[in-house]
Amino acid sequence: MTGTFVEPTPTPLALLLLGQKADPESERGVECPGDLPAPSDPDLVNRARAAKAALGDRVFILGHHYQRNEVIEFADVTGDSFKLAQQAAAHPEAEFIVFCGVHFMAESADILTSADQQVILPDLAAGCSMADMAEINQVEDCWAALDRAGVAEVTVPITYMNSSAAIKSFTGKHGGSVCTSSNAERSMEWAFEQGEKVLFLPDQHLGRNTAVRDLGLSLDDCVVYNPNKPDGGLTHEQMRAARVILWKGHCSVHGRFTPECVDDVREQVPGITVIVHPECAYEVVEKADIVGSTEKIIATIAAAEPGTSFAIGTELNLVKRIAQQNPDKQIVYLDKTVCFCSTMNRIDLPHLVWALESLLAGNVVNQIVVDDDTKEWSKVALDRMLALPGPSAARD
Ligand code: 13P
Ligand code: SF4
Repeated sequence: MTGTFVEPTPTPLALLLLGQKADPESERGVECPGDLPAPSDPDLVNRARAAKAALGDRVFILGHHYQRNEVIEFADVTGDSFKLAQQAAAHPEAEFIVFCGVHFMAESADILTSADQQVILPDLAAGCSMADMAEINQVEDCWAALDRAGVAEVTVPITYMNSSAAIKSFTGKHGGSVCTSSNAERSMEWAFEQGEKVLFLPDQHLGRNTAVRDLGLSLDDCVVYNPNKPDGGLTHEQMRAARVILWKGHCSVHGRFTPECVDDVREQVPGITVIVHPECAYEVVEKADIVGSTEKIIATIAAAEPGTSFAIGTELNLVKRIAQQNPDKQIVYLDKTVCFCSTMNRIDLPHLVWALESLLAGNVVNQIVVDDDTKEWSKVALDRMLALPGPSAARD
């Protein structure tokens, strides 16, 4: 090998766009001088274009904001979970909905679309570790425990979109609603109009942030139900005293952000605005300047004055894209070490090309089908959410 090694110039920022410059403090080894090659084989890009064009109006491609750029490029619409659920329901003309996101989103799309539409998830391994933290039998056990404590009747379940169709169905059957990060406040307010207590599934952080920060409840009004302990590790007295029963689930990506990350970035970049997703822990959200869904994060930064600095606490594919789309602003990642959502990342261009070409050949692959029984009640829960008046001002 020839050539002289040039020491990269350190940057004052906590994190950089991958492959551009380097931060020797935290990111040894990511420097790639010059332009990076295209992320995918150019032939695959042409194949995706050709398959999509040949399918025409028969296919509608939804892309969650956490998807890779190589996939987002082919999305007919991009959005947060709420917008994508609306968009799935709003395209009855498409024979195929190809969902570039994760399993629970594709299930929701199947519930909201008509019987003659087929929903495809390009890689079935694209699940969500948070959604997997609540299983339907555990939720039924929880409800039985609330019943034994004499509070099930006055409890309204709210399940985050990030849950299985079976849990959405349970929620619908028991008078509750789905919510997303853009309408959690409104959903919880609605739940308190229906009953005295809320069982919030499966993200304890979104539940706590919404109850305490948006609805003004206290931390002591919330208890955490641990599905791995008898009665969730709670006494009947604790269940009776609580206003909000939080399921012990969390997002492994947003769980990486700590209050120290916020302190560090503020020290390194004085005046920086810290913006985080409400799946982050309460202590992190409390230290941030702005909290919001992916859609809100994008809109806030797009509307900011040139020269503004932001530290963003959400998934890295989105943070990288925001940085690319806002070259007039300083964008850094709130965590010092890099972590994509590994399940979101399962959907890549090879899987998308395979799914589209298979559809074109008349072979429906990786179809997500929710059975009719589950569909009936989960649709009730999703429709309750979609009928709530507009996303809350605080979140969207
Ligand atoms: P939103 O896009 O609704 O903000 O949700 C984030 C998320 O974690 C999806 O998995
Ligand atoms: Fe699930 Fe977190 Fe990934 Fe979203 S970012 S899909 S909540 S693991």
